[in-house]
Amino acid sequence: MNYPINFNSRSEKLSKISRRLIRNNTTLNDRQRKFVKRYYNGRQLLRGFYTDFAVSYLMAMLLDVKKGNVLDTSCGSGRLFEYIPSNCEVQKYGFEIDPESSKICKLLYPDVNIENCDALAKINRISQKFNYVIANPPWGLQVNTENYNGYSLTNIPTKNNSTALFIELGIHSLVDGGRGIFLVPKSLFTNEFKDVIKYMESNGNVLAIIELPSSAFYNSNIMVESCLIYYEKSKDKINQIKTITISLVNEWTKNEEENKRLALEVVKEVKNHLR
Ligand SMILES: C[S@@+](CC[C@H](N)C(=O)[O-])C[C@H]1O[C@@H](n2cnc3c(N)ncnc32)[C@H](O)[C@@H]1O
Repeated sequence: MNYPINFNSRSEKLSKISRRLIRNNTTLNDRQRKFVKRYYNGRQLLRGFYTDFAVSYLMAMLLDVKKGNVLDTSCGSGRLFEYIPSNCEVQKYGFEIDPESSKICKLLYPDVNIENCDALAKINRISQKFNYVIANPPWGLQVNTENYNGYSLTNIPTKNNSTALFIELGIHSLVDGGRGIFLVPKSLFTNEFKDVIKYMESNGNVLAIIELPSSAFYNSNIMVESCLIYYEKSKDKINQIKTITISLVNEWTKNEEENKRLALEVVKEVKNHLR
């Protein structure tokens, strides 16, 4: 699956500068750290289209972590940890395959236990389950499923698609009653991926779907319609909650602060719905 790359030379340039900063400095001062956090864009060959900070804010506010452990299954430079509270009652864990991004994540978010590994190979080796999973997995990366045991979604037509396997990994990693939030392409709701949705529905409840416009990834040089799936894993209460769908396609702007305000309204709406 290919997504149109929107070549944004400014963001490319800024990402290169941040890469250089990291290469030339073993420690960063506050200004450099802020710069790298904002502009380092990862290596897009690995489908590393990093999350816009306002989207990361919306994801964290929905998840509303107060205590427990949180896993990002493909954490890149750690943007999804930005708004997860840092205190001794919250433990953060990240998997990331790219050594450069893992190193940068460690530098930017020292309280994250980050493991530089192939997350998909971890499914049978995860020693603990998580209260929360937060994820923007690599989308549409072709993976060789023969390398991985332990997935049920390797028997479906889209079996080589990384999005499907990362969703299974995320749900597998949750404790019963745990909550996950997944940033995925909207194409996940097409017939092609019906088995993935079926898998989600047979392991818990899709609490909310929030649609984002293709411009939400502008700073990561890609134009693609995406959505957030807010999810609860549950053995007993399968499919018992009516999903609320909210579209931000016409409301999301390029202004981060406005988007964050919008995010808080969305969180209120979802919470009222789930009450
Ligand atoms: C879409 S990016 C998201 C990064 C970050 N979570 C964010 O939201 O900004 C996906 C990340 O997955 C990583 N990745 C790709 N395949 C992976 C694998 N098999 N195991 C762990 N990480 C992987 C990429 O290197 C990239 O950093």
